Amino acid sequence: MELLKQRIIEEGVILSDQVLKLDGLLNHQVDPQLTMEMGREFAARFKESGITRVLTVESSGIAVAFATAYELGVPLVFARRKKTLLAEEDAYCERVPSFTKGIVTDIMLSRQYLKSEDRVLFIDDIIANGDAARGLIKIIERSGAELVGLGIVIEKCFQAGARTIREQGITLESLVKIESLTNGTITFGE
Ligand code: G4P
Ligand code: NA
Ligand code: NA
Repeated sequence: MELLKQRIIEEGVILSDQVLKLDGLLNHQVDPQLTMEMGREFAARFKESGITRVLTVESSGIAVAFATAYELGVPLVFARRKKTLLAEEDAYCERVPSFTKGIVTDIMLSRQYLKSEDRVLFIDDIIANGDAARGLIKIIERSGAELVGLGIVIEKCFQAGARTIREQGITLESLVKIESLTNGTITFGE
């Protein structure tokens, strides 16, 4: 998506060789027009896959997951980040380490909103190490639903998340690939 690359160049702030701040685009402010365009792109890539639900993890993936679900005409379900350690009977829970944040969080998804007959498209904003994605993939497996694929807005190719997931035989489509952030420059892939 050339338009998205352009916006990443305009809005992105390189914080280090590892991290690109994208508050103007994904993590704080959202451009509805651009986000709907991302949703149309994901919907086009997965339109023949019989998707019945779009899943994401709160919070930054919700806007683009909404746009995708709207285009596909299916519900969006977002896994919640739990603030309590109490086990919930009617929910799937997974503990997710965050490499960048240095903390663990628990993500939770009610059994009510993910059924064994579902065909799931998992949408997220950024994939780095892929820990959150792995947590949600485990939940989808436990539910008996079929994971059709992942749609990721920005793939950071220099971290292992996307590669590891593809090596498991899972389809992962990204809109923009970032190969490197070194020397104060964003280098795009492909
Ligand atoms: P992972 O999700 O791939 O495992 O990434 P990691 O644990 O390393 O990162 C934790 C959070 O930081 C994730 O957001 C992820 O999207 C975000 N992140 C990782 N690298 C970058 C980056 O270069 N730029 C930006 N802007 N964000 C990055 P999250 O915890 O899922 O929170 P939320 O944003 O969805 O609320
Ligand atoms: Na996210
Ligand atoms: Na994020």
